[in-house]
Amino acid sequence: QDYGGSPIFGPQEVSSIEGDSVSITCYYPDTSVNRHTRKYWCRQGASGMCTTLISSNGYLSKEYSGRANLINFPENNTFVINIEQLTQDDTGSYKCGLGTSNRGLSFDVSLEVSQVPELAENLYFQ
Ligand SMILES: *[C@@H]1O[C@H](CO)[C@@H](O)[C@H](O)[C@H]1NC(C)=O
Repeated sequence: QDYGGSPIFGPQEVSSIEGDSVSITCYYPDTSVNRHTRKYWCRQGASGMCTTLISSNGYLSKEYSGRANLINFPENNTFVINIEQLTQDDTGSYKCGLGTSNRGLSFDVSLEVSQVPELAENLYFQ
């Protein structure tokens, strides 16, 4: 299988609209260590640091409080990050990855949240 250079694989680009939710699935190589090690989802900042938003250790950031979860599925070597109530502030560059630090094996995911198109709204509700 071709993982495009990284052994972790997920969607490169995810787009949604404000108020909606997304489910992002990341795949990891099938090893016992991988099945049990920490899984994380972090946001890349301008400094190059990736700030953890949620992890399989039970960490949940303030930004995601009440609207996100991360579920590991060792039976099929995947983990899923669910995020609800999206806003445009959620637009950005993220990584899903494996390891005790955020410099482990990871995959870059770009998330784009757009406004509900007003024109479409007007057409529907006239
Ligand atoms: C992995 O397994 C879980 C639980 O059985 C299932 O809900 C999910 O759809 C599976 N994911 C893939 C990519 O097959």
